[in-house]
Amino acid sequence: MNVCIYLSCTSNSKKVANFCNDFLHYELLEARKVNQNISYNNVLLVYPVHSQNIPKNLLPLLKNIQCKKMIAIATYGRIKHGNSLFALRYKFQMPLIGACYFLTKHSYLKNDGYEPNYLTLLPLLKRFQDENSKVIEMRKSPSTFGYNLLPTLRAQLGLKITFDKRKCISCNLCGLTCLNKAITNGKINRHCIRCLACISNCPTKALDFKMKKILEIYLKNQKDIPSEIY
Ligand SMILES: Cc1cc2nc3c(=O)[nH]c(=O)nc-3n(C[C@H](O)[C@H](O)[C@H](O)COP(=O)(O)O)c2cc1C
Ligand code: SF4
Ligand code: SF4
Repeated sequence: MNVCIYLSCTSNSKKVANFCNDFLHYELLEARKVNQNISYNNVLLVYPVHSQNIPKNLLPLLKNIQCKKMIAIATYGRIKHGNSLFALRYKFQMPLIGACYFLTKHSYLKNDGYEPNYLTLLPLLKRFQDENSKVIEMRKSPSTFGYNLLPTLRAQLGLKITFDKRKCISCNLCGLTCLNKAITNGKINRHCIRCLACISNCPTKALDFKMKKILEIYLKNQKDIPSEIY
């Protein structure tokens, strides 16, 4: 069985997964819906870089998933992408026949204006069709000193989730969306990692966010680091 698995909080990775799957025609699955007892043939995995790392919600899947060939695409925006694909290949021992750090807009920048060129991913996807595709070797990319130091606290200090009670219809879609059990009917607790999935899924726009000026200036002044294909 061949699957295209995605984790996506603000839909950038989902758009990439949709584009790729229009070409591959695999079964498209959200990461939390993957049956970890099945051994897959080909797996396309698409996820967002969080704090220059693999999102922690993806770790249980990575520890259990079994497949013959994998291509992984890590979407990122404007800051360094770190070494999550390197970790997939060497720490989690995934049979990666291809990998890409794919530049998209940053989840925190509402009007970033950046439109990724999905077509550049096609040669990578074609490796699934080549029986001679081999597991790739990778090199480490630069990362920022201290990137793994209290990422949740840094996100919480830099960005506030706002909640307009008058717009809330108590549907708890936010709670069902959140992978961190960090929100119920718009009320956020200390487990929130500021992934913004709840905001993207709130049907009435009762949820929004405000960034600290310093974080906004930092993000806007970052130079784009181009996508990298292995
Ligand atoms: C909590 C969090 C941490 C992030 N950390 C980084 C980062 O370290 N480097 C980067 O370039 N982009 C970072 N981003 C931006 C996302 O990786 C990027 O916007 C990605 O495409 C989001 O994908 P999604 O819409 O599928 O969730 C971060 C976004 C969030 C929400
Ligand atoms: S998704 Fe929006 S409307 Fe529904 S409970 Fe959460 S905040 Fe309220
Ligand atoms: S409550 Fe926090 S962790 Fe949960 S979906 Fe919303 S932003 Fe993400």
